[in-house]
Amino acid sequence: MTIEVRLAEVSKTIRKRKCSRKSSSSNGASTSSRKRRRSPSSPLSITEEERSLFPLQKLYMSCVDVFKGAGTVPSPSDVQKLCRILDGMRAEDLGLSRNLQFFKTKSNPGITPKVACTTIYQSEKFSLCIFFLPVNAVIPLHNHPEMTVFNKLLIGKVHIKAYDLLNSNKSDDSNNPSKLKLASLKADGIFTAPCNTSVLYPTSGGNIHAFTAITPCAILDVMGPPYSKKDGRDCSYYRDIPFDAFPYEQAVISGEESERYCWLEEIEVPKESEMEGIEYMGPQIIEMSSS
Ligand SMILES: [Fe+2]
Repeated sequence: MTIEVRLAEVSKTIRKRKCSRKSSSSNGASTSSRKRRRSPSSPLSITEEERSLFPLQKLYMSCVDVFKGAGTVPSPSDVQKLCRILDGMRAEDLGLSRNLQFFKTKSNPGITPKVACTTIYQSEKFSLCIFFLPVNAVIPLHNHPEMTVFNKLLIGKVHIKAYDLLNSNKSDDSNNPSKLKLASLKADGIFTAPCNTSVLYPTSGGNIHAFTAITPCAILDVMGPPYSKKDGRDCSYYRDIPFDAFPYEQAVISGEESERYCWLEEIEVPKESEMEGIEYMGPQIIEMSSS
């Protein structure tokens, strides 16, 4: 059974909750009162106000407020606002269920599991995506140039390793001809859903990270701004090398401290980074004109 089929199973129930995107009434009602009365003939219709209470719509509307475009980083209070919403989100809010066969599937020896990705929404300022990792699937070490990213593990157990490049690194030093970049370890542990949102920033919080699924996982990513090759925000991939292998900075980093550092070497796009794009089948967002 493919992941599309599995997710389509969910959509059957979700589609029942879908409603019209129409936002203005035809009877000349004031736009200041956007409530739309339920019609007895359409018991599933809901008002815009009610829809704004849906976690996904609430997340989207907050993202519209928070993400101001390339070159900006959300303020601490805005980061808190998004974290609060994401921390409270459940897989079911995106049309997913732990009971789906995908999340019960065990590893299949001899088969390289491929990550699948679905985009819920994307604009120039932010994107909302869900990544589906079968057990043992890997998202290799990659960066998020000039981006702020919120990761919310919805389902499963995943190992996350994350680094930040050191501002003071001497990768251009003539003693370092391989252009290795010195990085500090920010996370190296197992996360199990439900857990709080993790946030990474352009130069802190673990901007370069890798995921390895211990069980089948679903991870919601909020990225602002999204990757954009034309705007210089392409994704780069890395391999990490123990610091002690090339201890150029031994004078300032030594002993146990060196375990928190490593060298990152940029690599060609690895095969494991290939993802299967799938259609988003969950609850829909009503787009605001300003986004
Ligand atoms: Fe990432």
